[in-house]
Amino acid sequence: MRLFLRFVRLWLSNLTNQNMSQIITPKTDFEISQMIEICTQNLVENNRDKMSSDDFSNKGFLIRKLTKEDVQEMLANQDKHLVVAIKENGNLQGYLTGCDLRESGIDFSLYAPNLNKIEGAKFFYHKQIVKRPEVKNVGSKLLLSMFDEVKSRGYSHVICRIVHRPFLNQSSISFHEKFGFKKVGEMSENNNVLGIYLR
Ligand SMILES: CC(C)(COP(=O)(O)OP(=O)(O)OC[C@H]1O[C@@H](n2cnc3c(N)ncnc32)[C@H](O)[C@@H]1OP(=O)(O)O)[C@@H](O)C(=O)NCCC(=O)NCCS
Repeated sequence: MRLFLRFVRLWLSNLTNQNMSQIITPKTDFEISQMIEICTQNLVENNRDKMSSDDFSNKGFLIRKLTKEDVQEMLANQDKHLVVAIKENGNLQGYLTGCDLRESGIDFSLYAPNLNKIEGAKFFYHKQIVKRPEVKNVGSKLLLSMFDEVKSRGYSHVICRIVHRPFLNQSSISFHEKFGFKKVGEMSENNNVLGIYLR
């Protein structure tokens, strides 16, 4: 009887865990393929026929593709990189990627000279944050979990880029500003204009 009750308790706790949203580091091929699927759902190039520039601005979008190789490389270098995702009912609902600023290969000081004046700063580059279009409250959970993680790794600042042109990603700007990011510069890359935001 006692064994049976233990089995029922274990089964119930597994059931609860499966339905709860969890922050995970994606590892399996299935999880990586779900990250790529979420990225694909949000790419401008895949939504041009169904979304206007106002839709892009209000709902947000991505311009950079994510590949399996990108994810595997980040997972192989987790001391410098971060990959986190929200898993709910066995499926990923959104993910966030980032890395030590030096790994990004971007010289932000060319476009935001004041960055060099912040004494003792250690910068983390917040690369990509995205969720499935139909879900909500995913971005804030991902961002807050990144803040905890990068703080524990000794970073003092988080820097990111948000597309200003061809479409203004106003949704992403409002989201990041809510969490304390401020615009510190602007740069051009591949015919896009990107705002530089710092927290
Ligand atoms: C950016 C993104 C990850 C935010 O995720 P989310 O799950 O919608 O965010 P949350 O629901 O946790 O929102 C937290 C707060 O951000 C702000 N916010 C989020 N989306 C917003 C929008 N479209 N317009 C204005 N403010 C917004 C709100 O203040 C919101 O708080 P509230 O719900 O209490 O009003 C999501 O919109 C997304 O995936 N967009 C497409 C891809 C993208 O643009 N990524 C960013 C690239 S730089």
